Amino acid sequence: MRLVFVENGPIRLEGQRIVVRIGEREEVREGRVSLCRCGGSANKPFCDGTHKRIGFQAPGGVLEVESD
Ligand code: FES
Repeated sequence: MRLVFVENGPIRLEGQRIVVRIGEREEVREGRVSLCRCGGSANKPFCDGTHKRIGFQAPGGVLEVESD
């Protein structure tokens, strides 16, 4: 699994199959999901592109998660 901190944007979670459970809501995403880190999304925890409109700024980076 890999977390990509998109410069001035969301945290993109990349993996084979991602199951998101929030309350009674459940979604299965294949491959990747973008999570809001600007706080402005109307569809939290997902990014809805608001970061561009509000001029969110943050550095980019990558975090690799290795499992056995
Ligand atoms: S990071 Fe995209 S809407 Fe917050």
